[in-house]
Amino acid sequence: MEMNTDPFHRKITYLRISITDRCNLRCFYCVSADSLAPLTHRDILSYEEILVIVYAAVELGIKKVRITGGEPLIRRNVLHFIRLLCAIPGLKDVSITTNGILLKDMAGLLFDAGIRRVNISLDTLNPVKFQRITRRDRFRDVLAGISAAKEAGFSPIKLNVVAIKGINDDEIQQLARLSVHQPYTVRFIEFMPIGKKSCWHREKVITSDEIKSRLESMGSLQQVPSSVNDGPAKRYRFENAKGEIGIISPISDHFCATCNRLRLTADGKLRPCLFSDHEIDIKAPLRNGCTQDEIKKLFKKGIAEKPKQHHAGHGNNTCLRPMSKIGG
Ligand code: 5AD
Repeated sequence: MEMNTDPFHRKITYLRISITDRCNLRCFYCVSADSLAPLTHRDILSYEEILVIVYAAVELGIKKVRITGGEPLIRRNVLHFIRLLCAIPGLKDVSITTNGILLKDMAGLLFDAGIRRVNISLDTLNPVKFQRITRRDRFRDVLAGISAAKEAGFSPIKLNVVAIKGINDDEIQQLARLSVHQPYTVRFIEFMPIGKKSCWHREKVITSDEIKSRLESMGSLQQVPSSVNDGPAKRYRFENAKGEIGIISPISDHFCATCNRLRLTADGKLRPCLFSDHEIDIKAPLRNGCTQDEIKKLFKKGIAEKPKQHHAGHGNNTCLRPMSKIGG
């Protein structure tokens, strides 16, 4: 068995790295209004520490990294870090998930630093609703950021919509339409129960089936054959559309059997499953001067301890860490 294969025969090739828990938005489903105490400078991994960890992870078989947060673009010197990350031999793909607010000024620099794929969160096309969801008046900045990403040459550009009943279910079709005239992939993600203060409720989930039937009423929705690097999204396209639709169903139809991910939190914990608080500390051993081999052993432990599947959405089980401290 290869070093990066887990007990359920899943090959772990993808590492998501949260580089900060801070954010310039306060989305109600991600952080509580009374804002959590952010991690201190000492708590979070330095860029050098993250790079040491990624080198070890790549030796174990990680080929793909996504940078997340909080909002990753607000961390100081992030472009310098990204340049170094993209230069790691053996790493085939580096991408980022952002709320888009800073892309207006940073998209070109981000592209030059080596990133080609960007996911941008966009839950609504209504500026007033945007402020209700995010508790900040930054809708225009996000739109400008999305355009800037297009101008800079990113491809694909994925727009993440968390579908929540009573919040944006009236906009699903309008959001989907963005994929027709623009080369954007609009991705609808089922609302997940993450964090103990999460306002998640089963009744607020709009299932993939519901989303799909709403889209089908708009016109001819064709399935796009999936390719190896697709991840969990089911892909569709409206006839003659420039972009695509993605539907991601962690709740109604979980994709644990093909999960190839590990997560590294900003405070240096390796998290084998989004929904489980079981974590392996890497920061303390690293700061105590452990070897590259010892980091690899911790990764192997993370791979070995990846749960077979999550049970989120059944009963009340959720994890303690809020989404803002995991990075999605
Ligand atoms: N359920 C589903 N998606 C979520 N995201 C954040 N919190 C949740 C949740 N509870 C999304 C963000 C971002 C992506 C990383 O995860 O909107 O686009």
